[in-house]
Amino acid sequence: MRGFDSIDRIGVVGAGTMGSGIAQVAATNGYDVVMRDVETDLVEEGFETIDESLSRLVDGDALDREAADAARERIEGTTDLADLADCDFVVEAVAENMDVKRDVFGDLNETVDEDVVLATNTSTLSITSIASATDRPELVVGLHFMNPVPVMDGVEVVVGERTDDEVVSLAHGLAEALGKETWEADDKPGFVSNRILMPWINEGIRAYDERVATREDIDRGMRLGTNVPMGPLELADHVGLDVCLDATETLHEELGDRYTPAYLLRRKVEAGDLGKKTGRGFYEYE
Ligand code: 3HC
Repeated sequence: MRGFDSIDRIGVVGAGTMGSGIAQVAATNGYDVVMRDVETDLVEEGFETIDESLSRLVDGDALDREAADAARERIEGTTDLADLADCDFVVEAVAENMDVKRDVFGDLNETVDEDVVLATNTSTLSITSIASATDRPELVVGLHFMNPVPVMDGVEVVVGERTDDEVVSLAHGLAEALGKETWEADDKPGFVSNRILMPWINEGIRAYDERVATREDIDRGMRLGTNVPMGPLELADHVGLDVCLDATETLHEELGDRYTPAYLLRRKVEAGDLGKKTGRGFYEYE
């Protein structure tokens, strides 16, 4: 296995919200990064997200402009997976779809040196099943970042059925080198984070649909009542209603009826009201 001290260049597959965030934190912590998506437009959108986020950090004095510019320079964009060939560690952050992820891991297995660890940012899918698309299941691990990646402190390390202990240690070490604190979960649906968070969001949506309170009072009640930064409806909008529905559906399939997605969640996704990213979810955005 390529160890922690040999990691200089990190490959990130997927330039969406999570992939671009992971690329950004890797670069601001001194790593060279290759960020890949399937189309040039998607890579460019990833860079736009990074530029906006770096500027927010600079404006808030969390990073100086020079360091932000240097980080930006360290990120190379590509649409060609072959450009990840000389990476020392790879994180995948593509769509939450098992077939898509297995295809990506099959391709990575052919592209990247055989001693390189392949991590997945999956939020609910089985690490073990993703790993079995490769010839190196012992080198596959879950590295589940939280959104927005540049400001959230935690990363969940998920241990697949065949993940090697040394790989688990490497995943903790690398996440810490990216400025994060970690916790560890077994490869059970939703791990710790989404197994608990998604039903919380889902129940918030049901409470809203059943007129328990206004959307504002549901969010305000949970913010003030449990000291969290966002209530369930505003958090659903922040994460993306499609992401919430996909995750809840996986939990429902794996763990049964207690995870049945709320009717209103399904309806809103059908309507294309996916939260902040489309300008409308449970709230409206500029
Ligand atoms: N990049 C850089 N900086 C950012 C940023 C980003 N993407 N988003 C927010 N910030 C900065 C802001 O600029 C601001 O900086 P300042 O204090 O210097 O002005 C600071 O963070 C606070 O932001 P805001 O003032 O805009 O608003 P908030 O105080 O509400 O913070 C938040 C925003 C950090 C998103 C906070 O509301 C929060 O922590 N919410 C909960 C998020 C959460 O739970 N995420 C996990 C979701 S679950 C998940 O990701 C798992 C997945 O599998 C589904």
